[in-house]
Amino acid sequence: MIEIFEAIKESAKRIKTIIEMGDSSKSDSSNSTGDTQLKLDIASDLVIEEIFGKIPSVKQIVSEEKDEIFTINPDGKYLIAYDPLDGSSLVDVNLSVGTIYGIYENDFTGSNLKASAYIVYGPNVDLVFCDGKVSKLYRLRNNHFVFLKDIKLNPSGKFVATGSTQQCWYPHHKKMVDDMFESGYKLRYSGGMVPDLHQILVKGGGLFSYPGASDKPKGKLRQLFEVFPFALIFECAGGGAIDGQNRVLEAKTLHIHDTSPCFFGSVSELVYVTSAYNG
Ligand code: AHG
Repeated sequence: MIEIFEAIKESAKRIKTIIEMGDSSKSDSSNSTGDTQLKLDIASDLVIEEIFGKIPSVKQIVSEEKDEIFTINPDGKYLIAYDPLDGSSLVDVNLSVGTIYGIYENDFTGSNLKASAYIVYGPNVDLVFCDGKVSKLYRLRNNHFVFLKDIKLNPSGKFVATGSTQQCWYPHHKKMVDDMFESGYKLRYSGGMVPDLHQILVKGGGLFSYPGASDKPKGKLRQLFEVFPFALIFECAGGGAIDGQNRVLEAKTLHIHDTSPCFFGSVSELVYVTSAYNG
């Protein structure tokens, strides 16, 4: 696992440089779900593929930008799912973006997720690595990642970040969000799940959700690359991640690009969700 952590750090430094080069133009290709890829998406994907392709303990890799699993070493132990540059369309408007990793064993399922990580590229480059026990925050200083703290959520927070569009929210979701605002929660939503979730984790609590909605009953965010990795980080930080009622890490995965409704938060915020979604 140490060599995977080192590879994550090396990839982060290289992707930071790619972002700083400033080419946020579109490429001629689209990914497996039909989104037009930016040149940044493709370049970041290639960096991770190159770096992880050299690690003997890595058996397979799969990218959010691709529709196939690639085998690196048939005898390797770990399976890596990654989103090379989540929220890349925000680079253009100078908002933070991120990279997400899920480190699995045996197969790409939530119950076999062993570790996860994400990087936020913003005014600072922050890295959170979770070994399945503790979620640790590091910050890039003089080209080295320096440990800052273990992330621990408070029992409740102040922020609500919720995706999709109100036009498509189900009434019980809208009522839950309204109730939270009436109780004093503040809205925080940039449109990038990495900085939005990072804010909730580092500030100690709140609720991020991307619910099932009338246009997307299974939500938008992908289990392997986005939902499961953050679920582990939230659970290890003393919060949780559910699909409305159940632990999202127990959700079934039939296809590598499956999505799931998801709610990440501290304990009190998840009570709002289970009450709203009960029945
Ligand atoms: P993309 O990688 O296509 O830019 O999508 C970003 C994701 C995620 O980071 C964010 O939370 C969500 O899409 C925002 O979607 P909505 O605009 O539908 O809320």
